[in-house]
Amino acid sequence: MDIEKIRKETPGCDGMVHLNNAGAALMPAGVVGAIAHYLNIETKFGGYEAQDGRRNAIEKAYKSVAQIIGAQARNIAFMENATVAFMQAVSAIPFERNDTILTTCNDYASNQIQFLSLQKRLGVQVIRAPDQAAGGVDVAVMSDLIDKHKPKLVCVTHVPTNSGLEQDVKAIGDICRSVGTIYLVDACQSVGQMPVDVVDIGCDFLSATSRKFLRGPRGSGFLYVSNRLLEQGLEPLFIDMRGASWTGPDSYQAVDSAKRFETWEFAWANVLGTASAAAYASDVGLETIRLRVQNLVRRLREGLARINKVTVLGGNEELCGIVTVTIDGVDPFKVVAALRVQGVNTSAQGREYAVIDYDNKNVTGALRLSPHYYNTEIEIDQAVSAVRRIVR
Ligand SMILES: Cc1ncc(COP(=O)(O)O)c(C=O)c1O
Repeated sequence: MDIEKIRKETPGCDGMVHLNNAGAALMPAGVVGAIAHYLNIETKFGGYEAQDGRRNAIEKAYKSVAQIIGAQARNIAFMENATVAFMQAVSAIPFERNDTILTTCNDYASNQIQFLSLQKRLGVQVIRAPDQAAGGVDVAVMSDLIDKHKPKLVCVTHVPTNSGLEQDVKAIGDICRSVGTIYLVDACQSVGQMPVDVVDIGCDFLSATSRKFLRGPRGSGFLYVSNRLLEQGLEPLFIDMRGASWTGPDSYQAVDSAKRFETWEFAWANVLGTASAAAYASDVGLETIRLRVQNLVRRLREGLARINKVTVLGGNEELCGIVTVTIDGVDPFKVVAALRVQGVNTSAQGREYAVIDYDNKNVTGALRLSPHYYNTEIEIDQAVSAVRRIVR
């Protein structure tokens, strides 16, 4: 990996240490260029006219995004963000009272809230498989719960927002495939930082965002939908005139690809930015990215662990690009502000970001540092020194 070249292509690297990639990563100049180029065309020719003129580039965007998750263009639906992708997927499942949703203790807060909302409105049961002692969901227990409850949906967040954990989504996928359960993977924090392959995982839906480790723009995400579900005719509850055509006063016909899950209006500039980010990640190489992130994270965890009063959370987990720490008696939100003054970008999380995990760890929140492959070892050491100064 040519870090120097990559950093030159990343204007944001100049003058700050960006360790908030789990929030929003720095976009490569080429991604910004793709967005600006499209906006210029819109400015010159008009929004709908620009879309017509760039039709081929837009169609190619589906391919570029499909490629980074091992899918085909017809399985990709563009979305405003990962949450909307997730909601569109869940809305397609015809839940009835007493149906079961099986998830984990580390699934994303918004996903958990949406399940609870479904529970309130429809009377579905939400069950969470427990973690194993070494960290991560206990797949054997999950398998028993699938046998026992026959859930209509199994949902797993691949890499949670609140720790460096990587869930064994493939092992869970194998179980779901063997019984035919719908399997939704939230890959919001994993796409762009490691290889993700929907066929290997065996998922039916996969939701993701553009702005995090993929290094695309804000306000853009996507949903993968398997051929199995498309062929079964699953469609989002609030399908619109992009996802379907109104064939008669009382009838409509859904389109046959995952575009069924899209809605009419799009910031196409962001879609093209997302495609550019996907192509950039493919060029760098996702396995190479994963190894580099792991090395940086190891260095960061070790450096932070040496600071008096700092506790690095987790430990038995796979090393992903998210490190969460607590500092005795210090509010993490204040640490974020103090670090930003020193040119180091991080983020903080309160208990409500990860109620179960943080309650289990007996913490009320954490400072989150999330390096990406374009960060350097020197930057990691600078961040560790900055935290040490603040603690002192
Ligand atoms: C694991 C996970 N899932 C989903 C989301 C939501 O993504 P978005 O803000 O793009 O809707 C996040 C955001 O932080 C996340 O970390």
